[in-house]
Order: sequence, then C-alpha cells, then structure tokens
Amino acid sequence: MTRYQLPIVGRVTALRDAGADPLLDPYARRIRYLRVSVTDRCNYRCTYCMPESLAGEVEFQPRAALMSFEEIERVVAVFARFGVRKVRLTGGEPTVRRGIVDLVARLVRVPGIAQVVMTSNGHLLDELAAPLAAAGLAAINISLDTLDAARFTELTGRGDLARVQAGVAAARAAGLAVKLNTVALRGVNDGELAALCRYAWMHGAVPRFIEHMPMSDGRLFEAAAELPARAIREALTAAFGPLAPARRDASTTGDAGPARYWTTGDGHEVGIISAMTEHFCDDCNRLRLTSTGELHACLGHDDAINLRDVVRAGGSDGDVVRAIAGAVSGKRVGHAFALDGTGAPRKHMIRMGG
Ligand code: 5AD
Ligand code: SF4
Repeated sequence: MTRYQLPIVGRVTALRDAGADPLLDPYARRIRYLRVSVTDRCNYRCTYCMPESLAGEVEFQPRAALMSFEEIERVVAVFARFGVRKVRLTGGEPTVRRGIVDLVARLVRVPGIAQVVMTSNGHLLDELAAPLAAAGLAAINISLDTLDAARFTELTGRGDLARVQAGVAAARAAGLAVKLNTVALRGVNDGELAALCRYAWMHGAVPRFIEHMPMSDGRLFEAAAELPARAIREALTAAFGPLAPARRDASTTGDAGPARYWTTGDGHEVGIISAMTEHFCDDCNRLRLTSTGELHACLGHDDAINLRDVVRAGGSDGDVVRAIAGAVSGKRVGHAFALDGTGAPRKHMIRMGG
C-alpha cells in the first residue's frame, strides 16, 4: 500500500507554562481561529460526509443539547479575550439553525472578533445571503463539487445545483467574499476541475480544491477516490499553464485558513487544501467547537472537552478558560490520516463542520 503521507514531525519546542497563555499550544502554535458548529443537522447527505448509510448511526441532537446563542456568545467572548480573531460558523449546515442571522449579529459585536465567516452548502443562501451580510458576515465558503446537476444530486443525496448556483449569485450580490469548496474525488469530479475554476472566476469567487479526508473510522473513505494535491496542480497546469505560488491567505493576523493559493498564468487565483498529502498541521491555528459544546483541538482525533457543560454547571469565565487551556494543552502534533483510510477518528464530519 503506497502511503503518500509524510511522517508527522512536529516542531517540538519548549513546553509552555500550562494555563499562563491558554491559547498557545505545546508546540508553540497560537490559536486565532475558532470554528463553531451551530447544528449537526444538514439538508444534504453528501457521500463523503453524511450519507444516508450513516443516518441510523448519527443521532441528531435534541434542541436542548445545543449550545444556545447566549452560551456561544459567552464562550466566543472568552476565546476573543485570549486572542481568537476569526469565527467560522459551520454545521451540519449552519443556515438550518433557526436564528442564524441573529447569531452572526451577536458575534460580530464581540470585542476582539475581527471577522465572522461561514461555510455553507448554499442551499438556503438565495434567501439568506443578504440578511447574513447585513448582520455583518464577511465571507462565505460554499461547497460545490460538480457543475453537473444529476451528479450534484447524486453526490449530495438531496441537493439542488440550481439552488446552490442561485445562492452563489446571491452571496456575491450581497457583497460577501465567496470561495467555492470542492472535495476533489478521482473518478467523480476530476474531469471538472478547470470548469469549476472558470465557474468560480466568472462569479467573482475563488475556487478551492480539498483533499478527501477519512472520518467516521475511515468507513466512507475510498483510497481509489483520492486525488492528491499534486494531481490537482497538474490538472490545473494542463488547463491554465504554470501555477505560481501566491499569498497563503490575505490575513496578517494569524487567523488564516489552511489553503495554499496559486496564481494561474492568466492571473486567476485558486486554492488547494492538501490535508492528506502535504499536511499543514505545523501551522495549525484553530480549534473546533461542536453544536453541543465539545471543544476539539484537532479534526483528526476524538479527544474533546465539553465547554457547554462547564457553562451549564454555573462555571465562571475562569473555569471556561481552564477548560479551554486543557483542550489546547492536549492538542496533538498532527492528524494521523493516511491514504489507505487508516488513522481516521471515529467522529463524523457532520458534527465537526469540516
Ligand atoms: N474530506 C474533505 N472535506 C470534506 N468536507 C466534508 N467532508 C469532507 C471530507 N471527508 C467538506 C465539505 C465542505 C466543508 C465543510 O468540508 O465539502 O466544503
Ligand atoms: Fe451537509 Fe456539508 Fe456534510 Fe454535505 S458536506 S452533508 S452539505 S454538512
């Protein structure tokens, strides 16, 4: 079995004084970016994330288990006090959470938070993009794996390509910065990479290709479907000429995402998120909070500390900080995803929000 994955070698530096700086991890990585899943529900059933075959196993959480907006706001304010600058709202599908526009409005007002952004499947954006932008959302990443309507419905279980395209247009019209996320899958959409780029550029969006990651114990992962970053770059080079490395991210405040950007011969931008074959764990600056308050320090491991429980037990902000510091001090040096599907965590992508 060929393994493309590099061994995980951390820049193991001095262990920090636990608790003194709760958002500095043991490998001297600073946390600036918090991904907040606001619901584990989704109106789609993407094959690589939450296919119908998992439906019996992934129990959706009852409403009372979800963190309330007050609880999310309080916890985000604590993170912001210690250096988090960017919040990304995810799901499931974040737009299916009732009151999502309200939540955006609350979070943009949290002192220290510079940017509230979202990742969405786009299904409800035709109606929601304008109110979200008015509430202060800065940018949105919309998942778009294919431009073929039948293939789109097949891949997403119940998705509607035309609605998502209307969502992309609405997001741009509302003034949101838009990136289009494509999970690159050999034999599925590998013939469409150039077309997806052209579509994105035509609509004022930045196309991005994501390597497929194994979650759910690796059960959804097909090694044969993997399209490594190198193959993605080769396809783009064949279509658009040589790629030149571009900025990593426009951000200078340490809250950048993991995409690496390239400029095509004709001056367009494209991003590649190579979680598997050229992983970026050494630069990790983020944490994930699930809709039920579990703080996950790494997408690739199952460890978590529940912040909702700390808050609901009447915990002080100091208690919240200590819980956060506990999660951060346990942050692993990197994921253990391998291209044969091993090394996957047991947890499901639908609860983590990407
Ligand atoms: N591997 C890579 N990306 C994934 N996403 C969902 N599941 C996977 C996976 N197994 C992507 C979605 C969306 C973002 C939230 O995460 O396509 O763009
Ligand atoms: Fe829903 Fe996004 Fe998962 Fe697809 S990838 S099932 S749209 S959460």
